[in-house]
Amino acid sequence: MKKIGVLTSGGDAPGMNACIRAVVRCGARYKLEVIGIRRGYCGLLEGDFVRLAPRSVANIIQRGGTFLECGRCEEMKTEEGIKKAIQVLHKEGLEGLIPIGGDGTFRGAAALAKAGDIRVIGIPGTIDNDVYGTDYAIGFDTAVNTAMEAIDKIRDTAGSLQRPFFVEVMGRNRGFIALDVGIAGGAEDILIPEAETKIEELCLDIRRNFEKGKKSSIVVVAEGDEAGGVFQVAQQVWERLRLDYRVCVLGHIQRGGSPTARDRILASKLGAAAVDALVEGKSGVMVGELKGEIALTPLEETYTKRKTMDGSLLQLMKVLSA
Ligand code: F6P
Repeated sequence: MKKIGVLTSGGDAPGMNACIRAVVRCGARYKLEVIGIRRGYCGLLEGDFVRLAPRSVANIIQRGGTFLECGRCEEMKTEEGIKKAIQVLHKEGLEGLIPIGGDGTFRGAAALAKAGDIRVIGIPGTIDNDVYGTDYAIGFDTAVNTAMEAIDKIRDTAGSLQRPFFVEVMGRNRGFIALDVGIAGGAEDILIPEAETKIEELCLDIRRNFEKGKKSSIVVVAEGDEAGGVFQVAQQVWERLRLDYRVCVLGHIQRGGSPTARDRILASKLGAAAVDALVEGKSGVMVGELKGEIALTPLEETYTKRKTMDGSLLQLMKVLSA
């Protein structure tokens, strides 16, 4: 193996740059030529390539976003798109590909690995952390810390004016960010898609909190909560309690910023492991980390199997918000 490509796809996640850096520099150790593919699969189909030497990835470990840029590519969901991608990879002489991203990225990666002779090793990079086969995806820790700091600030004003606050965090299908942020930020309630949202119980909690002398009630709501989103939840509570409230949607600030040490370390380990796996002749798998060890999972399983969640954290939140 002489030449490999690396791309970032789907939504960006803090730590992707650290991961590209690891791929390039570990590739250099094996004397591999590493090609950066800009704008994810969109750039791949258009042959938007840049040669990456170890010095090309200097001074990026601390930067959020992805300097290769990313994208969501509809064409890669089609058979023609996959065929075209394989042709482009062959034309460029690429024998291996490392796509960094989430479930959408891995669907394309699995199809590529199946359809041709290009070796493909995925790396999980998504703040949602909803990929099966890894305890943590690159970007999750940074997003949780960013949202936690925001909630710390919100609590200052919530307590001063004695208002309930409904804070929406990202996670369109799963509640991993909401759960961790809720625990770390000392939330009074956490609403996630994995648990039924009971408005009457929520109202009871909020009312009791104020009766107990609490000055604020912070309700963390995952973007994908089945109750229909943070504004609907807040409105339904207002209809029952008639309490002045505020909604705060943290949105894309959770995706930006300098990656935490944890994300940089994870990104570095997974980038190195992906290059090792390619050189060893592996393909069609994602490199993740399970209980601190590098683990390989077939790409199809990363999006067809459901990652389990530590449901006991919801109980813990109830106890700790007493
Ligand atoms: O998948 C990561 C994510 O940040 C989700 O949490 C969110 O729903 C989505 O991306 C937002 O995507 P976009 O940047 O296209 O608005």
